[in-house]
Amino acid sequence: MPSRQDPHPPSSRAVALDLLEAVWQRGRPLDEAIANHRGLDSQTPRDRAFVRALVGTCLRRLGQIDALIDARMERPLNPSKARVRAILRLGVAQVCFLAVPAHAAVSTTVALALGQGERPFRGLINAVLRRLSEGGESLIATQDAARLNTPDWLWRSWSAAYGEEVARQSAEVQLCDPPLDLTLRPGEDPEVWAARLDAHVLPGGALRLAPGTGEVARLPGYDEGAWWVQDFAAGLPVRLLGPLTGKTVLDLCAAPGGKTAQLAAAGAEVIALDLSESRLERLRDNLKRLGLAAATVVADAATWRPPSPAEAILLDAPCTATGTLRRHPDIARLRRPQDVSALTEVQDELLRGAAAMLAPGGTLVYAVCSLQPEEGPERIARLLDEVRDLRRQPLLAEELHGLSELITPEGDLRSLPCHLAELGGMDGFYACRLRRR
Ligand SMILES: C[S@@+](CC[C@H](N)C(=O)[O-])C[C@H]1O[C@@H](n2cnc3c(N)ncnc32)[C@H](O)[C@@H]1O
Repeated sequence: MPSRQDPHPPSSRAVALDLLEAVWQRGRPLDEAIANHRGLDSQTPRDRAFVRALVGTCLRRLGQIDALIDARMERPLNPSKARVRAILRLGVAQVCFLAVPAHAAVSTTVALALGQGERPFRGLINAVLRRLSEGGESLIATQDAARLNTPDWLWRSWSAAYGEEVARQSAEVQLCDPPLDLTLRPGEDPEVWAARLDAHVLPGGALRLAPGTGEVARLPGYDEGAWWVQDFAAGLPVRLLGPLTGKTVLDLCAAPGGKTAQLAAAGAEVIALDLSESRLERLRDNLKRLGLAAATVVADAATWRPPSPAEAILLDAPCTATGTLRRHPDIARLRRPQDVSALTEVQDELLRGAAAMLAPGGTLVYAVCSLQPEEGPERIARLLDEVRDLRRQPLLAEELHGLSELITPEGDLRSLPCHLAELGGMDGFYACRLRRR
């Protein structure tokens, strides 16, 4: 990666290639790769936005892009030519999905190949991109985008859990650029901020901004802490704890603190615990900007215990995050089925720990931003088998802004990317409320 003093900063396409390879070949989360790529510092805000759009499109539409490449090659590309394929993917994303004029997309992609020492492939790249710039549209119209872009194991799992039609609708929403959802600090007027931010008011008063609103820190209200970024669905689990004024709440997997802010803003005394010191640092910064407070503890929630049993606990457990593919398209490329089984063990330990901290009559809300049933209802079924004095406390539609379609027959929260699809969808969340007798 280039150094900060690099006199020849990389082109935006070269940065995009680095990022794509960081995810695809080195298994790094995209946000982490972006945060650590110094080549982005020398880009203009417009170029940075282009890089994000380019890499995001490649990851989101990888199945379609690969099928288009394969359809326009005379012979299959040797699998050892991973970099040539990555360059082609970037070119196809521009020609077919980002409306970059064909001549610009072709010439910059060929230049990228030359810069990467792939001179022998410039003719091939040129030919594939030109063929797609002429006949690509009709080919795309015949593609099953939702199916092609969803890894097989996720498609099978979602179809089994929710039915193929819902799996397809969810996969379709996840192909789109996500909107930006903001939760307002209490006392702020949603209509006033909606007008200032050109936003739509969602049920309950959160705001939704159209995709591509630019850098969050430049939006009105950021510096004064009038709002924080939180997907609509991510704002639901805290509501399940009921009125919070003056209550002590243990927020067991708290960082970076979207839900901690919500708890503190609702008047709770929050103890925010997380395993990661650096992530808790971010949580403290976020709360400071918002003028909110919480006690913070760096500890393993599976073994840490509070001085006295807790009346209210939120366990927003680490998970595969397969409900957040719209915002994190890299997750579809990084996760494997074995990650689900590894995480369910962690979730069981954290749930046992949380149950051990809960006072008689106390409420525990368990949440994950995963669509995998193994990480949601199956964990709760197991816990209820083990801990006999816990009971599920079914949710009511009015606790979820009247959205009864988000409640399962057992009374848990199950949001899907295709819920509120007409407004741009929401993250897939599961949450369950338990009470100790
Ligand atoms: C899904 S994120 C939490 C998001 C957060 N609640 C919010 O709303 O911003 C999961 C968090 O769990 C933390 N974590 C993972 N294992 C943990 C453990 N054993 N004990 C405490 N925290 C843990 C991770 O560091 C991560 O910050």
